[in-house]
Amino acid sequence: MTSTTADRATSASVFVVPDYDTLCDLVTNRIAALVHDKPNAVLGLATGSTPLGVYDRLARRHAGDGLDFSQVTCFNLDEYYPMDANSPHSYHHFMQENLFSRINCPRWFVPDGQPRGEAEIAHACRDYEARIAASGGIDLQLLGIGRSGHIGFNEPGSPPDSRTRLVTLHAMTRQDAADSFGGLGNVPRQAVSMGIGTILDAREIVMMASGAAKASIVQSAWTEDVADHVPASWVRLHPNARLCLDTDAASLLPHENR
Ligand code: F6R
Repeated sequence: MTSTTADRATSASVFVVPDYDTLCDLVTNRIAALVHDKPNAVLGLATGSTPLGVYDRLARRHAGDGLDFSQVTCFNLDEYYPMDANSPHSYHHFMQENLFSRINCPRWFVPDGQPRGEAEIAHACRDYEARIAASGGIDLQLLGIGRSGHIGFNEPGSPPDSRTRLVTLHAMTRQDAADSFGGLGNVPRQAVSMGIGTILDAREIVMMASGAAKASIVQSAWTEDVADHVPASWVRLHPNARLCLDTDAASLLPHENR
């Protein structure tokens, strides 16, 4: 495997807040401000446990303050493969349950995990990229970070110019998903994910991490060389990116990196 590296330079800024609730307030405020200022904003969204508090807050802003998503378009980062969109394990289902059944956003897309041939998958991935481009590109991409260093399901080794494609999940990623699938053997080995290049094309990136379990990978991503063995490190080179952490996730980050 060839490895691409850059240097340690970082354009992105780091915000550290005391706890998960404050972290979610911070990120929710940024997304709500964007939707308020640009009613037809295009959002890139993540699944996983980290953004759940943000989705709940956005739904409550919609219900309570009338935050309007009627002209917003959303693209999710990834979906397991193979995966039926109607399965309770699908990211499609996750987004429906946690956000889209609770707000008035008519246009939301999740990569399609239905099983099919290689050529058809490649075609669907190109379509996903084309749909993002046709929507005007992503204004704000929300990211979590996996313990493997992945963003989306771009595992170590994913090059910075990668686009939406079929990927193989890291053993640690499958292990982390085992409980929710009722055992490691039930976790898919592959996924369809936006690429690092797709993510870096967003006009703004907000990467969130919470909890001590993320401290070590946050430290690697933010203090070691920018390199494809820690995919999240590429976010540091984006001209308009923020890393938003609670104190537990930031606990191994030297003060000069904050
Ligand atoms: C999910 C995704 C992943 C998660 C990451 C962190 O769509 O793209 O990169 O953001 O695995 O997951 P949590 O938030 O569950 O720790």
